[in-house]
Order: sequence, then structure tokens, then C-alpha cells
Amino acid sequence: MLEIKNLHARIAEDGTEIIRGLNLTVKAGEVAAIMGPNGSGKSTLSYILAGRSDYEVTEGEILYNGQSILEMDPAERASAGIFLAFQYPMEIPGVATMEFLKTAMNAQRRARGEDELKIPDLLKRVRAAADELSMDMGMLKRPLNVGFSGGEKKRAEILQMKLLEPKLCVLDETDSGLDIDALKIVADGVNALRSPDRAMVVITHYQRLLEYIVPDTVHVLYRGQVIKSGEKDLALELEKNGYAGIIGEAA
Ligand SMILES: Nc1ncnc2c1ncn2[C@@H]1O[C@H](COP(=O)(O)OP(=O)(O)O)[C@@H](O)[C@H]1O
Ligand SMILES: [Mg+2]
Repeated sequence: MLEIKNLHARIAEDGTEIIRGLNLTVKAGEVAAIMGPNGSGKSTLSYILAGRSDYEVTEGEILYNGQSILEMDPAERASAGIFLAFQYPMEIPGVATMEFLKTAMNAQRRARGEDELKIPDLLKRVRAAADELSMDMGMLKRPLNVGFSGGEKKRAEILQMKLLEPKLCVLDETDSGLDIDALKIVADGVNALRSPDRAMVVITHYQRLLEYIVPDTVHVLYRGQVIKSGEKDLALELEKNGYAGIIGEAA
């Protein structure tokens, strides 16, 4: 579903290369964990997948279902079924969460060639998903993410992921100081959405999240490259021995 081949990317402003020949394949149905020390390029990778214009791809390719996404803008990527959840979700003052969800869900449906949802149907779906996340509907009247606590932001993020039914989900959970409750919200959300036709990429600095989300594959990112890939045991090995051993092996 996702194939990244020899990807090189730099910061547009000053030309610093951050991603340096990265290879990664994630199949449909797979939950892939990306781990790696601070500064290795994990968040940068998620920004590049989102299509942020402050990063430039200089070499290599990113294929989604066999097609390059490099020429697609962020909105086109989203309509194609790519969903990204960032470490720091954006606050959208002036737009009620419910309004945001309605617009996003209907845009997604139009892109799939489906009819827009009528308000009662839309409300029913949102209520069902919010209930599963123990979210109060009253919260959805508030502007998206504005003044939300860390846990509320996570719930809002997972709510969007449930309702938009993406095919490829990328979640950057690095360093976000998630408390155990927030961690469980994310993990339950990811686990509930596991499906044979969906792929998930979970970026995390800590092994702890992977106690709740058991990944199919684990990839270690270091200095802009995947230096080791393995199965879930690799995360345990990292927990025990840290990154030093693997970095030494690759050097
Ligand atoms: N816009 C930017 N300007 C300057 N340096 C950046 C920028 N984005 C990323 N970097 C640098 O790129 C490296 C990788 O950062 P990042 O992707 O955030 O790593 P990680 O998420 O793995 O901790 C770091 O050294 C960081 O300082
Ligand atoms: Mg990061």
C-alpha cells in the first residue's frame, strides 16, 4: 500500500537534508511502527507524507497503491484516503468541531463518489463514534482543538480517523508527553480500525505505546534512513538494549 524508495528530502528554506535514502514498505492490513532516537527524522517523514511545502523531496519516490503521491497536494492526498495525525494537532479557531467533521466527511464521500450525508445520518454516525470514545457531544460545539486538553485532542484526532475511514493512517506520537489515558485512547482507536484493507504507520519514540498497539512490523529510523526492520520483537529488543546496539551494527 505504501512504498517509499530511496527517499531524500531537505528543508526547503535552508537545504538541510533530513531524509537520506529512506526505504520502507507497508502492506495493506499491516500496522507498522516507526521508532528511532530524537532527531532521526520521524516527524519530518510524516510531514513529507502529508505534503507540507516546507520540505522538498530531491530524490526517490513515495508510492501509494502503486502511484506516486509527490505531485499531489495535501487535500488530494486526503481524498485519496491518506490520514495524518500530528504530534501537535492544529487548532482551528472559529470552526466548531462538528462543522469541521461534516465538511471533512462530505468531502471524503464526494471524493469516493458517494452522496453527501444528510444531517440526521451524519449526527447519528458522529454520536456513535463519539460514544465509543466517551466523548461528550457538547465538546463538538467547541472550535476544533482550541483549548482542548492533551487527552481531548487525542480523542478528537481518533474521532476524525474513525469517521473519515482512511486507507492509510499515519500517527506521529513522538514526545507528545502522552499520559497513560491518552495512550490508551490512541491505542484503542488504532486497534479498532485495524482491517485487512487498511495500513497504519505509528511513529513513536517510546516502546510503551507498543504495549497497547502490537505492531506487525517495526522499523528503526536513524539519521534519515531505516537502519533496521523486524517484527514486534524488535521493539522489545530496543526497550531492553536501547538504540545504541542497532546504531552500532548499522554504522
Ligand atoms: N524546519 C526545520 N528547520 C530546521 N531543522 C529541522 C526542521 N525540521 C526538522 N529539522 C531537523 O531535522 C532533524 C529531524 O527532526 P524530526 O523529524 O523532528 O525528528 P524526530 O521526529 O525523529 O525527533 C532534527 O535534527 C531537526 O532539528
Ligand atoms: Mg518527532
